[in-house]
Amino acid sequence: APGTSGEAHPGAGGETHQVAGGDVATLTTAQGAPVADDQNTLRYGPRGPALMEDFHFREKIFHFDHERIPERVVHARGYGAHGYFELTDSLQDVTRADIFQRVGERTPAFVRFSTVAGAKGSFDLARDVRGFAVKFYTQEGNWDLVGNNIPVFFIQDAIKFPDMVHAVKPAPDRDFPQAQSAHDNFWDFVSLTPESFHMIMWVMSDRAIPRSFRFMEGFGVHTFRFLDARNRSTFVKFHWKPKMRLQSVVWNEAVKINGADPDFHRRDLWDAITSGDFPEWELGVQLFDDAFAEKFAFDVLDPTKLIPEEEIPVRIVGRLVLDRVVDNFFAETEQVAFCTQNVPPGIDFSNDPLLQGRNFSYLDTQVKRLGSPNFTHIPINAPKCPMAHFQQDGHMAMRNPIGRANYEPNSWGAAGGPREDPIRGFRSFAAEETGPKVRLRPESFADHYSQARQFVISQTPIERKHIGDAITFELSKVERPEIRARVVSHLRHVDEDLARTVANGLGLKLPEPAKAARPVIADLPPSDALSIVRNG
Ligand code: HEM
Repeated sequence: APGTSGEAHPGAGGETHQVAGGDVATLTTAQGAPVADDQNTLRYGPRGPALMEDFHFREKIFHFDHERIPERVVHARGYGAHGYFELTDSLQDVTRADIFQRVGERTPAFVRFSTVAGAKGSFDLARDVRGFAVKFYTQEGNWDLVGNNIPVFFIQDAIKFPDMVHAVKPAPDRDFPQAQSAHDNFWDFVSLTPESFHMIMWVMSDRAIPRSFRFMEGFGVHTFRFLDARNRSTFVKFHWKPKMRLQSVVWNEAVKINGADPDFHRRDLWDAITSGDFPEWELGVQLFDDAFAEKFAFDVLDPTKLIPEEEIPVRIVGRLVLDRVVDNFFAETEQVAFCTQNVPPGIDFSNDPLLQGRNFSYLDTQVKRLGSPNFTHIPINAPKCPMAHFQQDGHMAMRNPIGRANYEPNSWGAAGGPREDPIRGFRSFAAEETGPKVRLRPESFADHYSQARQFVISQTPIERKHIGDAITFELSKVERPEIRARVVSHLRHVDEDLARTVANGLGLKLPEPAKAARPVIADLPPSDALSIVRNG
């Protein structure tokens, strides 16, 4: 008989009924009405038609029908965990950011690792860039450091991001290939976008098939600014260094692992954290001033370039520890919304044109993905510091202004809600900008090969061999011979040995080197510049 906690008993048709009682909660509808039978719809006679009146059935199916939300347009497959950041070296001298003031203080953090190109249900060991996105819940607002495991990017200007992502995702007519790079469209885009070659060398290296998330570095990629109490600026690049150092698998292992266990990376993170073996990274910063930026061989605003650690050493300032898995994947990992524009006072942007575009893109896409501008009300996205503002209403509003005031200035004194704080409040760096309104790539962004070459020659012989093998393998999947040849024509600027290895591997006659760089048009009169832009 029903009544004992959790006890199962058969129904009239042999179906299992488990009943509430004792410690076992009563099942209810979303409206809270207790449910007596969750196994059978309401019917007119045991063999008769189902009744519309069955609100429990209709609510249950209705909600199920709406369970899916759009996956992220990139970085769809990811895995998250909670932890904390602990400051080990104060940065008070260069930034007023609260998180960097007091040594020993811990700030809660949430991290989501991801692949970029694959769909939500793809496999973990794709040859791909890995996202390394960190949300710090600081006392002066959330700071999102939305990075990757590679310190540079494919493109220099955010206006190319949709093209790049379209090219890397499955082709629109056939919807394959699903894998990152074995792809005519992808290599076509790359071969016509020489600025991508530095990043391509990293993506073809062992870095793109990491052993696990725990063995990856992370990078903020762009140059950001730190601002001190007097709003003086220091440029900064962010680095994550894994305590367990770097490890990768080789390609044949990656292929086997993907077949045997497509969840290899997420399982590794889950197992490590739940067994108490908490993954850890050091946070490092490269700090530099205008004088260094002026004399550096590349433009510090160009996201396809890094600053060698030999020139600006990485100063370790803290550690990130992941010590708690999520309670619910969807609520936390899927609904978390990172955005490069989420910065607290003391951290500011540079003019990197990729960063400036990202600052628009994330918020925009998240309104679509999460369905409402109120996604900051979801606990994983909500700041953990005091907050008060006059934003209101919209779908799912859970934090409307309290009382009569929903604007300021107002006459309602202390009852009138929050006010500006000129001392603690966020202030942008007062950068002085001049120049005509133009669409021109600066000449200082034009060297696309030097750092690609530095990367290749910095690798050990076996790592270099892996790069050659990877490019040969990937290009062997490209059907159009002119695309293969065009890629090799760029490789000749990167490294002649590498170009020859790939050409031999593909049975290709070594092509002429590509035209070294796009014409430098910044200094030309507009009519000549226009003709170059139009005619190449
Ligand atoms: C998502 C990194 C460039 C648009 C992500 C994520 C990471 C990331 C880590 C996943 C966030 C998560 O786990 O939820 C980067 C890095 C870039 C870069 C390091 C270059 C340095 C861009 C650019 C754009 C862009 C140039 C667009 C102009 C997006 C979008 C998402 C995304 C739309 C999906 C966000 C969401 O639905 O929540 N990116 N990205 N990214 N990124 Fe980027």
